[in-house]
Parts: sequence; structure tokens; C-alpha cells
Amino acid sequence: MLKEFHQINLRDRNSFHVEQHASRLVEFEDVEDLRQLFRGGIPEKWYVLSGGNNILFSKDYDGLLITPVSRQITLLEDNDTTVRLRVDAGVEWDDLVEWAVERDLWGIENLSLIPGKAGAAPVQNIGAYGREAKDAIRSVTMYNVEADTVLTLDADHCEFGYRESIFKHALKGKVIITSIEVELSRTPAPHLDYGDVRQEVEARGGATLRNIREAVCAIRRHKLPDTAVLGNAGSFFKNPIVDKEVGERMKSLHPEMPLYPAHDDTKCKLAAGWLIDHTGLKGYREGHVGVHERQALVLVNHGGATGTEVIAFAHMIQQKVMEKFGIAIDTEVNIL
Ligand code: EPU
Repeated sequence: MLKEFHQINLRDRNSFHVEQHASRLVEFEDVEDLRQLFRGGIPEKWYVLSGGNNILFSKDYDGLLITPVSRQITLLEDNDTTVRLRVDAGVEWDDLVEWAVERDLWGIENLSLIPGKAGAAPVQNIGAYGREAKDAIRSVTMYNVEADTVLTLDADHCEFGYRESIFKHALKGKVIITSIEVELSRTPAPHLDYGDVRQEVEARGGATLRNIREAVCAIRRHKLPDTAVLGNAGSFFKNPIVDKEVGERMKSLHPEMPLYPAHDDTKCKLAAGWLIDHTGLKGYREGHVGVHERQALVLVNHGGATGTEVIAFAHMIQQKVMEKFGIAIDTEVNIL
């Protein structure tokens, strides 16, 4: 059933907790709701607001926001080796991870505690601790607003990359994701090679699913601020992908700097958090906005920040990193 709100305060619907308003917001459960919503015509301006964890409202939104609320996890196939699930767009991602860990199903445990809903996971191909949503997503089902059709796209056609997918490009503003299909495995396959994960897992007694989940949760809780306490949208910037020569030149100048391989092997990935930190900005604050004191990639709202303030602060950081290292860092957060 559709639920409709007008002139709604978005403070509790965006993890930055900026106090902007939307003219209209609709919560939907299924495709029938979406059909009903668009029956009278497609509004000029609309946008899917999922959990609001990766978005910055720079001003009031004078259009229609559409939020998925359906939370079913449906078993599609269960055999000796794998399990396939249909997960509604409104399922909290971390509830899905807990559901899987409880049932001894491998594949998404490293993505524990990522805030947001399952329908948003393919959009930016959420990732953490060496794993990405694309490793488990088999297909994405969506409603095509203009064509009034339902389409299921196999993962191979989703153009997944580092924090990238077709949903940020060719399908942007055209579709509304209604569910994803996820494949999990009964065979243990721990991935412990990122940062402190192995050490934290071993400290808990070894590589069980539960221990990996708890280790990842502990690392995240230590480094990333709780949005309920301090408004933020996780990593505000993406880790920059640069030509290999640029990365190697940086590494020779700063041997302690982390350098990661990229999907494309003529490139490599730098750590934006390290760059911001080594520009001296960790913990820096101007007015209501600041750089988090334990993770320089995260900008925080100390209370009362407007979207415009956050954007000005982010530009200042981009500029300082450019001046110091000659590297451009792009925002990961969607700015509306
Ligand atoms: N670093 C610093 N100072 C900082 C932050 C990081 O020197 O203030 C260094 C760390 O010591 C480490 C490297 O930079 O050597 C990377 O840091 P970290 O492992 O914390 O990860 P990240 O690259 O900063 C990415 C994701 C996170 C994800 C972690 C773990 C992006 C944009 N961010 O951060 O994702 O949790 O890896 O996999 O890719 C998010 O997308 O919202 C998010 C939190």
C-alpha cells in the first residue's frame, strides 16, 4: 500500500541529519504500488530515497521522493552447496547479513554493519574489507518508470565496478529497484586479508562466520561514527583511481602510503582517507561540519549543519588535497 507525506522534514531520513524538506514523499511496497503512483503521469522531478545513508540534501527537494519499505526475504533455491534468495529493496542490508550468518551461509559477512537497504546495495556496489555486493548479487529487479515494465537484469549486465554500476549511469532516473537476488554458499570461504580483519578474527577464536561478522562490526564501530550520534554518510569521498605511474611516484615519495590494485591493471587505487589525514585535516572542524577524528574519509555533522555548509567544507578538502598531493578526490555521496 502507498503511504504519502507532504512537506516532510527529512532530518530522520538522511544519515547526515540535515534539516531539509521534501514537497512529497511516498513509501511503496511493490510494483503495483508504483504503477498506481505513476498512473496519473510521471512527475517532472523524482528520486529514490532509500535509507538515506549516501545522500546529501543541499537544499529542500521540490519533487517526489520514493522510498521502498517492503522487507521480505524469500528463499528461491536451497541445495547442498548454495542458497538463492530474493531480497526486497526495503530490507535493511545488515538484517540480511545477520539472517545469512544465523543460517551458516557465506558470502556477505564482510559487509556487516553497512548502513542502508538492500535495494541500494547494487547502486553503488557497496563494499568493505575486500568484498563487494557484486560478489553475491546475481540479478536486480526493477520497475521501469517510463515503459511501465518490470525488468530483471543479470549481474553481468549491471556494469559493477568500484562503487559503480549501471544504476548510476544509463539507468539513472529511469528505474526503481524493487528487489535483488543474492546467492550465498554453504561452503566456508573466509576473506581475511584486508587490514586488521585477520587479527580481529583470530582474537575471537578463528574464522567462523559469526567471528568474522563480529570482527568486522568491531572494526567499523571503532572507526566509523554512529549516525544516530553524529550525522554522517560513511565515506564522503571515493578512493581515487590513478594511473599506475602516478601511484608509484606517490609511493616512492611516501613509502608508508597505502596503495591498492584497481580492477583495471594499468591503474591503482589510493586511500583518500590517508591523503586527507596527511593534509592535516583529520578532526578539523569549521562551524557545524568536520572531518571525523578517527577516519578522515568521513565528514560529520556536529549538529545543525545545512547541506550547503557540508558542500563548501567538502570543496575545501578537495582543494587542500589537490594542493598538497596533486590528486583529485571525488565525492562518493550523492548530492541532491
Ligand atoms: N587511513 C589513514 N587515515 C585515515 C583513514 C585511513 O591513514 O584517517 C589509511 C588507513 O590506515 C589504511 C587506508 O588509509 O591504510 C585505508 O583505510 P580504511 O581501511 O579505513 O579504508 P578506506 O579506504 O578509508 C574503504 C571504504 C569504506 C570501507 C573500508 C573498509 C571507500 C570510499 N571506503 O575506506 O567504506 O568500510 O574501505 O573496507 O571505498 C563507505 O563506503 O561508506 C565506507 C565506509
